[in-house]
Amino acid sequence: MSALLQPARLRLGVNIDHVATIRNARWTSRGGGEHPDPVRAAALIAQYGGDGITAHLREDRRHIRDEDIARIQAATNLPLNLEMAATDEMLEIALRHMPHAACIVPERREERTTEGGLDAAGQHNRLVPIISALRDAGIRVSLFIAPEERQIEAAMRLGAPVVELHTGEYAHAEGEARAVELRRIADMAALAAKNGIEPHAGHGLTYDNVQPIAAIPQLAELNIGHYLIGEAIFCGLETSVRRMRELMDAAR
Ligand code: PXP
Repeated sequence: MSALLQPARLRLGVNIDHVATIRNARWTSRGGGEHPDPVRAAALIAQYGGDGITAHLREDRRHIRDEDIARIQAATNLPLNLEMAATDEMLEIALRHMPHAACIVPERREERTTEGGLDAAGQHNRLVPIISALRDAGIRVSLFIAPEERQIEAAMRLGAPVVELHTGEYAHAEGEARAVELRRIADMAALAAKNGIEPHAGHGLTYDNVQPIAAIPQLAELNIGHYLIGEAIFCGLETSVRRMRELMDAAR
């Protein structure tokens, strides 16, 4: 294959939320709870082959806390992708910290993890001012959406430069159902790219399921967290990030 036809390198954004989850398990009103520090993970990820840091500041601060954001930015030159709900509070925090990117995610208080995609189509009016304020500030906006045509079309109407396709359904499916989900993601990555939107993907990706997703040529970035941090318990963060990087590169 000529260099011109070679697909671009797929970036790996490492989500460090669950380093903070473990830290917070020992937080008490009397203090403590500083170990393990997600900032230490952020500082190491560049050495291990990660291309960016992703962190989700949730309304209930169950993992990343406000003070972590500035500390992460100070500890690494890697771009920070701040995942945030479309609320005035989160917009104000994003504008104060000026991360490289903001990924707008749906958030429900009772969910354990981000269960579905953002309803970009149904929430047009709510999203317009938030997206334009972030864009005006020079923050790259992405929308975390289900791999559905109507959501891509909504992202186009909203002027989002990036969409992150939710791979949770793919990750949970098996056999033929997984093949159907994979095709949906591939088709929506192609549709986004054809319309000038950079497609990313993430959620539920593991060593076992990452390669068919990484092989989708239009995808520019994968954001992966829970599995990498979980694996790091057994083999260390360096091994888990490097192994994921190798699998992604081998799939291209
Ligand atoms: N991308 C987005 C937008 C997310 O909200 C998350 C975490 O829910 C991830 C990627 C990473 O997912 P996981 O932790 O399952 O790898």
